[in-house]
Amino acid sequence: MNATAQNLATRAVARIVRGMPTSDGAGVKLTRVIGQPQLPDLDPFLMLDEFGTDNPGDYIAGFPSHPHRGFETVTYMLDGRMRHRDNHGHEGVLVPGSVQWMTAGRGIVHSEMPEQQEGRMRGFQLWINLPAREKMTAPKYQEFGPERIPTTEPAQGVRVKVIAGRERGVSGPISQPATDPIYLDVGLQPGARYAATLPAEHAAFIYVYEGSLRVGDAESAKVVAAHELAVLTAGESVHMEAVADGESSRAILVAGRPLREPVAKYGPFVMNTREEIVRAVEDFQSGRF
Ligand code: FE2
Repeated sequence: MNATAQNLATRAVARIVRGMPTSDGAGVKLTRVIGQPQLPDLDPFLMLDEFGTDNPGDYIAGFPSHPHRGFETVTYMLDGRMRHRDNHGHEGVLVPGSVQWMTAGRGIVHSEMPEQQEGRMRGFQLWINLPAREKMTAPKYQEFGPERIPTTEPAQGVRVKVIAGRERGVSGPISQPATDPIYLDVGLQPGARYAATLPAEHAAFIYVYEGSLRVGDAESAKVVAAHELAVLTAGESVHMEAVADGESSRAILVAGRPLREPVAKYGPFVMNTREEIVRAVEDFQSGRF
């Protein structure tokens, strides 16, 4: 197959990865899907965590004050409320269905603390890398409540929330030219089918968080179960179908332009070289964030 034919292909499942239970912050229990030994990264994506529990003891301690430099954190809340506060005076509460796209750039120090005392806390945090030329940019936020995230019904039994990118003429509120991201929350009724169009060379994955989906062309489709991530091959579209006699399914479909740059990573600092990491630690320790 030549390169052009490959670009026009529909995407298939390259591999399926199951998340790994871990804890972060002040002991918050979560599932790490990207950023663990089975899938250390998926350029430009550095990390994907799913948090989802009915037990307040699993999340109540939250994520007290911690720094970030050199990349973006994207928090998408499904259930529960999280208060966010940083050292530049920015503060807000993430409510169910809201998204916070934070460009840490040259540095912020912030806390992310559950606002609720009981009930379900559920959502995702995704880390997306920034190119070398933008790692030291000024920090900024793109933060949107559920009413600002458009929903479209591209096919029978299919509802798509467009957080970033475009779905049949409906644009999400997020703008990030560096990686040109697509972030869709897709809900499918049993038996419903959906085909999403993606830039052919973007890295892309589907993470199923309810039900299960058959992903790929009819002949080669693979079943992706809840709490599994499917890394997709290149191609300009991806097909998915909720199992006909199953429950309804929900998944996030995320894609971004790979940066293909060296990555030097140390905890919450993601730069291109070791020297830049040393500098980040020094800057943080001497209060220059
Ligand atoms: Fe953070």
